[in-house]
Amino acid sequence: MDRIIRVAIIGCGAIGRVHARAISQLSKAKLVAVCDVNEGPAQSMASDFGSQYYTDYHKMFATEELDLVTVCTPSGTRLDICTAAAAHKINILVEKPLDITAERCQQIVDVCEASGVKLGTIFQLRFTPVFRRLKEAVDQQRFGRLILGNAQTICYRPQSYYDSGGWRGTLAHEGGGALMNQGIHSVDLLLWMMGDVVNVDAYTGTLTHNIEVEDTVTAAVEFANGAMGSIQATTSVLYGIDKRLEIYGEKGTVIIDGETVVKWEFEDGFPLEVLDEKRIQLSASSPLIEDVQGHRDQIGDMVDAILEDREPAVSGREGKKAVDLILAIYKSAGMI
Ligand SMILES: NC(=O)c1ccc[n+]([C@@H]2O[C@H](COP(=O)([O-])OP(=O)(O)OC[C@H]3O[C@@H](n4cnc5c(N)ncnc54)[C@H](O)[C@@H]3O)[C@@H](O)[C@H]2O)c1
Repeated sequence: MDRIIRVAIIGCGAIGRVHARAISQLSKAKLVAVCDVNEGPAQSMASDFGSQYYTDYHKMFATEELDLVTVCTPSGTRLDICTAAAAHKINILVEKPLDITAERCQQIVDVCEASGVKLGTIFQLRFTPVFRRLKEAVDQQRFGRLILGNAQTICYRPQSYYDSGGWRGTLAHEGGGALMNQGIHSVDLLLWMMGDVVNVDAYTGTLTHNIEVEDTVTAAVEFANGAMGSIQATTSVLYGIDKRLEIYGEKGTVIIDGETVVKWEFEDGFPLEVLDEKRIQLSASSPLIEDVQGHRDQIGDMVDAILEDREPAVSGREGKKAVDLILAIYKSAGMI
């Protein structure tokens, strides 16, 4: 019989439920346990998805036979959880951001490598058809020399969003604001398409919320390949444009709003294949959690990586790059 990967989820909040729904759609994986420090959400998720539940992940690791744990707790909690999972030789898939400081991210990478467990970081937009197609265009040199890459996340979160969890909007537990939480997806896509950044000049501000971290940021960046670009993120704008990615090369231009292609033109005519138009168009004010396709495909990739004994498509090292760039932006702006 084919091997089924036994999965646990830690953190039964908003994104934990997305993971549970995504895992339920995978034929090679089974959700066997969930864990949350609060018993209510753990019990309710276990009952909805037919698993065991725990309020202490140490106990869960010691009791359950697990191949994979997905980590869906607040952003600054990953290091301890990953260290404990690695000690039990359990492979780990961590929600973005990998953690909130460069040191903690590096420690997670190191502890997983030393223990011989696989480590992945969730960036589910890399698994959506339009960004995969764009990455093909980049890899196949359709743009010629890359000239400019711009990433924007212009959205809205009310003050009540930041007040809803004690960790949100705090430097100690969230590590940042609009960029570390919402904008990080676009930062990851920009790095995936354009390559590493070597210079940053940035400004941050807290314009409309009562929070410790930034709700608005703008940065100019220089890429290692000589191209230039910009990164902007805000949670202060109603009717914004959600996520916009612009890639400009000598021989082509692509502009994508959300997952909608606004412009796709190449000198060599590189076509945009017909994409699945049934995919949900997400509004600029709703978190990226209505649609589980990206999570399903990324968790599915992690399951295959375990079965095939290969690296996951988005490794821990890859996940650390986005955190490093965001921290460089904060540092340039004098925020940290
Ligand atoms: N990939 C995406 O699009 C996406 C979307 C939303 C959130 N996220 C990420 O997911 C993470 C969680 O966000 P959320 O919106 O689900 O938060 P949330 O507050 O809704 O849920 C977090 C849960 O973790 C539990 N928890 C906290 N510490 C714990 C611990 N030590 N052990 C076990 N459980 C613990 C809390 O009780 C809570 O139920 C954040 O890092 C966020 O950046 C990713």
